[in-house]
Amino acid sequence: MFDPKRFVEEKVSEAKEKIKGKAIIAVSGGVDSTVAASIVSNAIGEDLLAVHVDNGFMRDIFDGKRKRRESEYIVEVLKDSGINAKLVDASEEFLDALKEVSEPEEKRRIIGEKFIRIFENEAREFGAEYLVQGTIAPDWIESGGGQRDTIKTHHNVGGLPEKISLKLFEPNRNLYKDETRKVAEFLGFPDKIYRRQPFPGPGLAIRVVGAPPMRKNIEIVRRANYLWEKIIEDAIRDGTLEYKERQYFAGYFPNTKIVGVHGDLRFYKGFIGLRCIETKDYMTANFEKLPWGLLEEASIEITNELGKDVVGVFYDIANKPPRTVEFE
Ligand code: XMP
Repeated sequence: MFDPKRFVEEKVSEAKEKIKGKAIIAVSGGVDSTVAASIVSNAIGEDLLAVHVDNGFMRDIFDGKRKRRESEYIVEVLKDSGINAKLVDASEEFLDALKEVSEPEEKRRIIGEKFIRIFENEAREFGAEYLVQGTIAPDWIESGGGQRDTIKTHHNVGGLPEKISLKLFEPNRNLYKDETRKVAEFLGFPDKIYRRQPFPGPGLAIRVVGAPPMRKNIEIVRRANYLWEKIIEDAIRDGTLEYKERQYFAGYFPNTKIVGVHGDLRFYKGFIGLRCIETKDYMTANFEKLPWGLLEEASIEITNELGKDVVGVFYDIANKPPRTVEFE
């Protein structure tokens, strides 16, 4: 049986032994990087800097009480747990760079490059000699394997260690996702963190589908996504849905206009796509056969709130493969 307490004790002493100088970690708010940051912070305190970059494509989330900007919430949680955390708000820079980019891989490339440059600056300024990463076992097992693993390699094993000449420390290297979640819970993080669903690095930018992630488009998908996530999470809280490994989000399709009617007038607007998949490892995934009531609630809430720009709500019932989890 996996024992989170023992794991933390072992890794904290290992970090104390191995890290002789300042260290830096990029924290996304996900469970993997949060656990890594917490372990190393327990070992070396203020000599660890946990940097969270707000690229302007982060979500709004419900923290159990109210609606929050995700980046602010993440940094607050890290600080509350005693981690030396810093929020770098680069949202304007990212939004400006992407306002005319509609090609998905181009969005990913620009966001990735900017992120690395910003993170490198932070590392230099802080005088970091060590890079801490939240890599877990599937990240490297699957990345070393056959062709089905290309997707994961592409997303998760980034260019950071190659590009930055820092010594690497990866406390979670041998953990699986469920174990990482147990460690995060043991460390006292809120369920919003230890149960957090994966969220892509390029964030909401790749959920404005086939169109540039302009401020307006991002705001629309952010609001739809908030409503959808809250419907699913409320259903988990009240027992309508069981908790399991799943990913649920909204995408905005502004370019394909579909028809609606208002009085005698027909009008054409974009639509929202909803996704909710259940999975073990995100390599394969099935759409979830959700209760119709939840989907109807989403359709009503989304068209009520976003009716100026959205007239339809579609639920994506394709499995991976041949689909992927994301819309782009
Ligand atoms: P796909 O869409 O490829 O996604 O089935 C598999 C998992 O990876 C996440 N994902 C990303 N993560 N950068 C990331 O860090 C990305 O560009 C990216 N694209 C997809 C996706 O959310 C899912 O959990």
